[in-house]
Amino acid sequence: MKTLIVYFSFTGNNKLLANTMAKDLEAEVLQITEPKKRGMFGIMLDMLFNRFPKIDNLEISWQKYDHVLLMAPIWNYLIAHPMKSFIRKNSEYLKNYSFITLCSGRETQKEKIAKQLKKLVKYEPKTIIEFEILKLPTYEEQKDSIYKVTQDDLKIFKEEEAYQKILKTYAIKKEMV
Ligand SMILES: Cc1cc2nc3c(=O)[nH]c(=O)nc-3n(C[C@H](O)[C@H](O)[C@H](O)COP(=O)(O)O)c2cc1C
Repeated sequence: MKTLIVYFSFTGNNKLLANTMAKDLEAEVLQITEPKKRGMFGIMLDMLFNRFPKIDNLEISWQKYDHVLLMAPIWNYLIAHPMKSFIRKNSEYLKNYSFITLCSGRETQKEKIAKQLKKLVKYEPKTIIEFEILKLPTYEEQKDSIYKVTQDDLKIFKEEEAYQKILKTYAIKKEMV
């Protein structure tokens, strides 16, 4: 099964996850970028007005892929706005897709993510996964600043059932000779 990973990342965590998962799945990976440099103030305004910011165009040959993995952070319960812009722009192609976020982790968040996707896309996602920074043993050490996920942290997420299930379902199956 050929998977395309499309991600947005502000501080690098979802980028690290996207590139790691792309290697594991042998998937192609594309980054959502913006014409305007983003800062914390822009995030605040996006959250406040629930904006759909301008994003750079991505040329995608959708017919090449069987499954699309969307990855982005969550900002105050909301799917990061540049990802929302991408989803809205490409909703007609999102039939077999999943949403994964590497986020801090908050209760009832998954339902809120599902609701947002429902508003934007006709089809339901195959799965929604939150990899939660809060659960990491090193979380307390970086608690007062934005947590930067490390390769060691990723090893922990990779052991989670959800990660394994994604690999099992979407990794390219090699023919046995
Ligand atoms: C302004 C802001 C709001 C956030 N709100 C949430 C939130 O509601 N829920 C959550 O799980 N994480 C929240 N986070 C944490 C991010 O989702 C987390 O740091 C994520 O890993 C960042 O991804 P990135 O490095 O790919 O940008 C927030 C982060 C920022 C900067």
